[in-house]
Parts: sequence; C-alpha cells; structure tokens
Amino acid sequence: MVKTPIPPIPPGARTLALDILAGARQKGRSVEDLMAAAFKRHPLLSRSERAFVLELVQGVKRWELRLDYHLAAISALPLKKLHPLVLNILRLAAFQVLMLNKVPARAALNEAGQQAKARRLPKAHVGFINAVLRRLAAGDLPALPSLKDDPVTALSLATSHPAWLVRRWLARLGLESTQARLAANNQIPPLTIRVNTLKTDPATLAARLAREGVEATYCRLSPGGLSLAALKASPVQLPSYREGLWLFQDEAAQLVTGLLGAGPGQRVLEIGAGRGGKTTALAEAMANQGLILAVDYHRRRLQEARLNLKRWGVAVAQPLLADATQSLPLKSGTLDAVLLDAPCSSLGILRRHPEIKMRLTETDLATFPPRQRAMLARAADLLRPGGRLLYITCTTEPEENEEVVNAFLSTHPEFHLATDPNFLPPPARSLIQPPGFFKTAAETHGLDSFFAAVLVKK
Ligand SMILES: C[S@@+](CC[C@H](N)C(=O)[O-])C[C@H]1O[C@@H](n2cnc3c(N)ncnc32)[C@H](O)[C@@H]1O
Repeated sequence: MVKTPIPPIPPGARTLALDILAGARQKGRSVEDLMAAAFKRHPLLSRSERAFVLELVQGVKRWELRLDYHLAAISALPLKKLHPLVLNILRLAAFQVLMLNKVPARAALNEAGQQAKARRLPKAHVGFINAVLRRLAAGDLPALPSLKDDPVTALSLATSHPAWLVRRWLARLGLESTQARLAANNQIPPLTIRVNTLKTDPATLAARLAREGVEATYCRLSPGGLSLAALKASPVQLPSYREGLWLFQDEAAQLVTGLLGAGPGQRVLEIGAGRGGKTTALAEAMANQGLILAVDYHRRRLQEARLNLKRWGVAVAQPLLADATQSLPLKSGTLDAVLLDAPCSSLGILRRHPEIKMRLTETDLATFPPRQRAMLARAADLLRPGGRLLYITCTTEPEENEEVVNAFLSTHPEFHLATDPNFLPPPARSLIQPPGFFKTAAETHGLDSFFAAVLVKK
C-alpha cells in the first residue's frame, strides 16, 4: 500500500516569516514566491497563522526603509554588515513594535530573542539583537526629518518609499498628489476576485462563498468582480477556488481586458500571459470559441498557467513558451486581436506588492521602454487590417505608457488610437481620458494603477 506522506507540523508564523524574509535575500528570490512555497509546504498551518505570516512579510517589505532608518540609528553596527538573519529578526521585531499596535513590545522582543537562540546564532549576535531591541522598545528613536527642511527625505522615510522615486514623483506631480499616492500605496488593498463566468455567475458564486463561510460584496465598477471580507481560510482550501470558479484579480485588471473587444471564434494572441490571469477573461469574452495563443517566456509561470486554465475550464488557449521581443511562429497579418500585457516597472501595484519598491532601481526604469516598443512592433505586424491591439501596463510612469504608445503611432501610421469607452461598464467609462488612454490610480480610484490603450490597424 502506498502511504500518503504526512505533512510536517508547521512552525510558528514569526519563524516562517523570518525564513521567508532572510531566505529571499540569501537566495535572490522574491518574498512572494517564497511565501507561496512555504504555504504549499505547510498545509497544516492554521488560517490565523497564515494571515499573520502574510501581515508580517508584506508589512516588513512595506515599511522596510523606515524600519531600517530607525534600526540604523540605534545599532552600533551598519545594517549592511549584519547577517541576514540578524537584520531580519530586527526588522520583524521593529515592524511589530512600531507599526502593529496589536503586538505588545515585550512579546515581540521575547520572540526575537528566542528566534536568535533557535537559529543557534553566536552569543554575541543574540546580545546585539537584545541591546538594539531594548532601545527600540524604550522609544529611543531619532525624529524623522521635517517636510520643510528636506521634503524628499522626509516623505521617503515617513512613507517608506525610495528617495529616487519620491524625487521623481514630486517633480512630476507636486507635493499634494505625491503625498496622496505614497499614502495610497501603504493602504492594505481590498481582496477582490473575478468570477469565472465560464462556470458560474456573480450571484451564484456569492451564495456559494457564503456557504463556504466567506462574505462577498459586489465590486463598484467591474460587474464580474466580488470583494471578499477577510478570508477565513487559505484560498486554495476553498472548494469554490479549487473548482476554478474564481481567481484573485484587482478590479482595474478586470476592467482593462474588456477594452480589447475580443469575441467568439477570433484568433487572439496574448503576450505576457503569465499565470493566465487575463487569459480567462479573454476566453469568457470569446465564449470559449476560437484560439488564444498565450505567450510568455517564463517557463514556471506558463506551467502554472496550464494548470490554472485547466481548472478554469478554458478550452481555447494554447500556452507557448517564446520571447515576444523576437519573431513569433505566426504569419503576419493573420490575427484578429492582440493583448500585450507588457512587462513594466510595476509601480502601479505597490500596495499589493510592496517588495517591488525595495527591489527596483532608478536605472531599471530605462530598461522597460525598449522592450515594450519591440513587443508592440512585433505584435503590430501580426494583426490583420482592422485588427485590434490592446497595450496594458501596471505602472504609473509616462515613459512606459503614453510615450511608448505615442512613439509607436508616430512610426506606424497604419494604426490609430481607438480606446472605446463603450467596451467598459457605464460606471467605469470615465476612466478613459483624452486622447484615449485608460488610466486608474490607487490614490484617486482606490484601484491598482493601470494604463491601457487600444490601437487599431487601418
Ligand atoms: C504584467 S506580467 C503578466 C501578467 C499576466 N498577464 C496576468 O494577468 O496575470 C508580464 C509578463 O510578461 C512576461 N514577459 C516579459 N518579457 C517577455 C518576453 N520578452 N517575451 C514573452 N514574455 C515576456 C513576463 O514573464 C510576465 O509574465
């Protein structure tokens, strides 16, 4: 008889959070990947512990710059010289003491000491951690610089965004709008899901979720979206999730796909399909008839897409591993539509993925537009006359948005801008601004910040 392996007894939330935060630095992986792997490894982790891991990991990333400022001021050693475990034990404790009101300082400090010992860190490290955290708990902290004296540093530290980004936004948006954006990025976003209408509808799913113990309300703008009250179980444990009745997706991402106007029987290319989040929306619009060639050059994401598409009941999509800056195995002039979900700086989704602001550098920004332009040019060639191309990013930066589209139009006179508000539900139509750019912003709409434009071949 084959025995099913018994899952390991999970460690506590703080221990797992520390593994994830320190491991990301050592292994050069994202905390999100490591967190997903940890949750998979520990199916017995209780739902409250799971929620606490998420709160700790995302919270440390969201506030890392500010936490490090305080820690650097009370540490006898430069933070750069600290062992990753020591640094992340300090960050975790500082986050709990300074940002989470629900954890008493003493509990966080005790836990930090125990973690240091459990990891068999040398005595000197343990003593160092205790000394730093005692000063922290005593409130022995430097004041933040004042906005009047040094707005960039003041905003950077107060809101925990890198100075280069604050400087950039201040120069472009001015003080008030920059402050609003920085504050919006630090809000915990709502848990929104998109209903898979290939299998169900919002009202039926809401009733089903209620039976599974999850309260769901309708989204404001996206008719296929529901907003969930805090999940009481991990999504992968909910039968409705396992049956492919829904997926996590911000409302802006839900709305944007509709702009392509894809329909049944069409031949559609999706570039940057990733894990297939927008592929289902396309398949729904196409009533699961026709062909979606779902291209990505990231092997693991495409493997996940295969599993997701099967679970969601998407029959029309064919995943293809390929680099879309190069020529694709398709005849030019043959496609009805292309959705280009472009790789971008992702500065529009910092509230969901705070790690990005700590990873991205100012020099990285310049690497995106050339790739975006190359992908647009390749996609354009594949469209038939009258074919539609939807360009999407989840960034706030004009160099990757308006400027890429305008540069494309100036070199491709056979295309014109034709983003049509009628493809959006009425309450969302005002999201299209002249001359035809779809734009959402966390600070004005409470949505992730997306940009999109539709280009039609004459
Ligand atoms: C914005 S993400 C896609 C998100 C996905 N469409 C969704 O809705 O969940 C962009 C995707 O483009 C892919 N990508 C980046 N450069 C690429 C290239 N040169 N060729 C193909 N795919 C690429 C990335 O691997 C990533 O999955």
